[in-house]
Amino acid sequence: MKNITSAELRAMFLKFYQDHGHAVIASASVIPENDPTVLFTTAGMHPLVPYLLGAKHPEGTRLTDVQKCIRTGDIDEVGDASHLTFFEMLGNWSLGDYFKKEAISWSWEFLTSEKYLGIDPDRLAFSVFAGDDDCPADTEAHDLWRSCGVKEDHIFYLPKENNWWGPAGQTGPCGPDTEMFYWTGPLPAPETFDPRNKLWVEIWNDVFMQYNKTADGKFEPLAQKNVDTGMGVERVTAILQGKKSCYETELFAPLFAELDQLRGVAHQEGEERSRSERIVVEHARAATFIMADGITPGKVDQAYVLRRLIRRMIREARKLGVNGLFTAKLAEVVIRGY
Ligand code: ALA
Repeated sequence: MKNITSAELRAMFLKFYQDHGHAVIASASVIPENDPTVLFTTAGMHPLVPYLLGAKHPEGTRLTDVQKCIRTGDIDEVGDASHLTFFEMLGNWSLGDYFKKEAISWSWEFLTSEKYLGIDPDRLAFSVFAGDDDCPADTEAHDLWRSCGVKEDHIFYLPKENNWWGPAGQTGPCGPDTEMFYWTGPLPAPETFDPRNKLWVEIWNDVFMQYNKTADGKFEPLAQKNVDTGMGVERVTAILQGKKSCYETELFAPLFAELDQLRGVAHQEGEERSRSERIVVEHARAATFIMADGITPGKVDQAYVLRRLIRRMIREARKLGVNGLFTAKLAEVVIRGY
């Protein structure tokens, strides 16, 4: 497996999809431009909704990007090994162009080929949609993984609750997905994939967007079949570097260094960062990105979420003995890093 930095991972992903005919597009704002149904851009597909519904994208029918995302649903979990309110999502899109066959075989190639991530196939497992009244079981995705060489026992059928993505708000494009998991536990990886075992960590999701969910809860077939994928930069960087959490990667190191300086403490190499330290740096990153996209702290909507992030950051920093004004110092580190 390649031990690479987050910058190398982003570049490798974009180049791989560029080589497969995708145009690289810039990340959209974390504040959705034309969508009142959500406060923040929660996934790479969000800014592309009009194109998934059939509008012509100026860059064509194959796109790839690194989208900055905000998800605050799990804000109280931030501080554990994996939850973040801000993260970057690598994605590739087919807008009515290729579908399951290409999406799955490219995901497999990128994950396992020595030219790319070079992950041991035995450490990978896959879930596919089990089927229900709205959409049949995804035997095609199952068969495609099998044809890549995946063992039967490393593929699991799961219901809508797990293997369906979207719409981002109440209505819009959505569909069954296939999720890719990496075994983070001791080797050898289990012969059989058990999705309830938390040591199997989801690293990538290929969504087959072929339905539009209507306001009355119906799933209507879309005029075009699309692919929407998402791979978390922070999570995959940590895995490639053999780290237990994304806080141990270079993405957070300069922020922790600044925080140590503010506290006047020296950090012991290898010592795990506390929950409070993680919350401070995580929220500093999220708040800086939200402000960079034009929001200032306030009492409603995005402005309130921003205020809450800053308030929590200050509260945790005070617990760590940081007094006075310090938030701008952390913001500067985020700005330099990105
Ligand atoms: N939209 C999909 C996700 O966020 C790829 O997981």
